[in-house]
Amino acid sequence: MSRSVHNVAPGIAVDEPEREFTFSDADFRNLVQLAYEYAGIALSDTKRNLVYTRVSRRLRALRLSSFREYRAYLSENAPERENFVNAISTNLTRFFRESHHFEHFSRHVVVPFLAGAQRNGGRFRVWSAGCSTGEEPYTIAAVLRREIGDGCRLDARILATDIDTDVLRKAASGEYPAKSLDDIPRPYRDYFQPADGNRNAASVFATEDIRSLIVFRQLNLMDRWPFQGKFDAIFCRNVMIYFDAATKASLIDRFIQSIKPGGWLYIGHSESFHGTHPELQLVGRTTYRRKP
Ligand SMILES: C[S@@+](CC[C@H](N)C(=O)[O-])C[C@H]1O[C@@H](n2cnc3c(N)ncnc32)[C@H](O)[C@@H]1O
Repeated sequence: MSRSVHNVAPGIAVDEPEREFTFSDADFRNLVQLAYEYAGIALSDTKRNLVYTRVSRRLRALRLSSFREYRAYLSENAPERENFVNAISTNLTRFFRESHHFEHFSRHVVVPFLAGAQRNGGRFRVWSAGCSTGEEPYTIAAVLRREIGDGCRLDARILATDIDTDVLRKAASGEYPAKSLDDIPRPYRDYFQPADGNRNAASVFATEDIRSLIVFRQLNLMDRWPFQGKFDAIFCRNVMIYFDAATKASLIDRFIQSIKPGGWLYIGHSESFHGTHPELQLVGRTTYRRKP
């Protein structure tokens, strides 16, 4: 592949691959600014190739020939914001990711809730904030369903939200490659079944037992949250890594206000916030409890 020399900053030249589309510093800076404005996503200078590769797809889809044209299109067509955010967001996830959270959730959240269900009216709410393609909320649902059984007297719901409408569509379909069963511990595999019971099928589907516990909604965490009730537990994992310190701190404050006193907050392994928060107790690896 031929390469050209690109000036990143005065005096610093970086060798970079010849590109299909011209991509200037001004293009990069402008798209970085928009990712921050629309989604709170903070992209450092090291994300130049990522921005180019992901947004190039939009240029091809729209048959545009330069990033300059794309920027103009984006500023004149508000609906393109959604496609831009979908392209720029990172959606990597899997079932039972950071499985210690689900052991904790089962033992210290679900089981005690069930023991007191008569007293607390049987209302149980969990939020998977930044749920991507759904592996996280379906994992929560499988853990919850295994403990509650058919639990018809309980009012248990998982709200699963993401800013990215493409991943939400996939999540709502409940269809996953059969290979992803490898990530699911045996006791939970029955909640994922091949279509028509065909054991050699390439896909499995989340069963109604767990689907019925989840509501998927689009939500930008930077916006006002359209709910008032508080949650027993919030999972916001591997989402805040994309935000800067100020955004993350304000989000943690807002999460605390949305968790019941004594409720739980699970965050990603690389996201533990430095310093303490007066209303949160660290009770385990990236597991926090709102003080009762
Ligand atoms: C890496 S995935 C994490 C998925 C899952 N929570 C996990 O830990 O496996 C991060 C998700 O955060 C979402 N996200 C990024 N910025 C967001 C925002 N401002 N509001 C809501 N979701 C956002 C992305 O679309 C993406 O699906």
